[in-house]
Amino acid sequence: MTARLIDGKAVAADLRRAIAARVATLGYRPGLRVVRVGEDPASGVYVRNKDKAAQEAGFDSATLHLPEATTEAELLAVVARLNADPAVDGILVQLPLPRHIRAEAVISAVAPEKDVDGFHPLNAGRLASGEPGLVPCTPKGVMHLLRAAGCSLPGARALVVGRSTIVGRPMAQLLLAADCTVTIAHSRTRDLAAECRRAEILVAAVGRPEMVRGDWVAEGATVIDVGINRLESGRLVGDVEFEAACRRAEAITPVPGGVGPMTIACLLENTLDAAIARRG
Ligand code: GUN
Repeated sequence: MTARLIDGKAVAADLRRAIAARVATLGYRPGLRVVRVGEDPASGVYVRNKDKAAQEAGFDSATLHLPEATTEAELLAVVARLNADPAVDGILVQLPLPRHIRAEAVISAVAPEKDVDGFHPLNAGRLASGEPGLVPCTPKGVMHLLRAAGCSLPGARALVVGRSTIVGRPMAQLLLAADCTVTIAHSRTRDLAAECRRAEILVAAVGRPEMVRGDWVAEGATVIDVGINRLESGRLVGDVEFEAACRRAEAITPVPGGVGPMTIACLLENTLDAAIARRG
């Protein structure tokens, strides 16, 4: 079997077009502010891409780039100002933050109704309790991809490899909300290969190049690879051994061009939802 490729670029482009069409009917431009602190080079690329995508979809988007030496108190003051600004519907503080700033303190300071990352503990709690709220963008994007791929979710055995608060945990909650039978595997899981071999849906989000071996993938599984790792050779690979996994999976996301483009599209979706919830 050679797996069908799940084209994240195409699904994300469709979603972005649909969002832009809805924005055009609103009569106002949803406001997004992305806050970047310091000079982490990868963050620079991510933040530029988010800002550009937001502007293309008709949002009022701007990046606030603060110096590396910004104190936690100064960053909290910026967040408080954005919380109070009626033109701002969505606030995203790009991670990682410099080491002298506590990320949890900053995440908890963002007004939950403007928390378009879905990282605030209130939104995480809403997701865990099955209440409506803002949901982290990457796992939300994975759910779009599973549906676009025609994957049947109710009752399916889903394995999430990774338990981060940004991806693994909310991913498991979303799959559970979609009636999957969910297992979360992590660094202390005793027999990861056996867990993978049982999974009809396998979501890999560990950030370790090709850690999920191709022969761990069940015949006919749907594989979603959230990882994006740069090898010393410069080549980008996911968390799954792609070529070998393609021989067993029914459908799989490529890296790049799978989950990555969905994260930005879902940030726009969250910002639009936040704007409509606040302003109608
Ligand atoms: N850094 C890497 N991914 C993310 C993300 O989804 N949101 C934020 N705020 N920072 C990130």
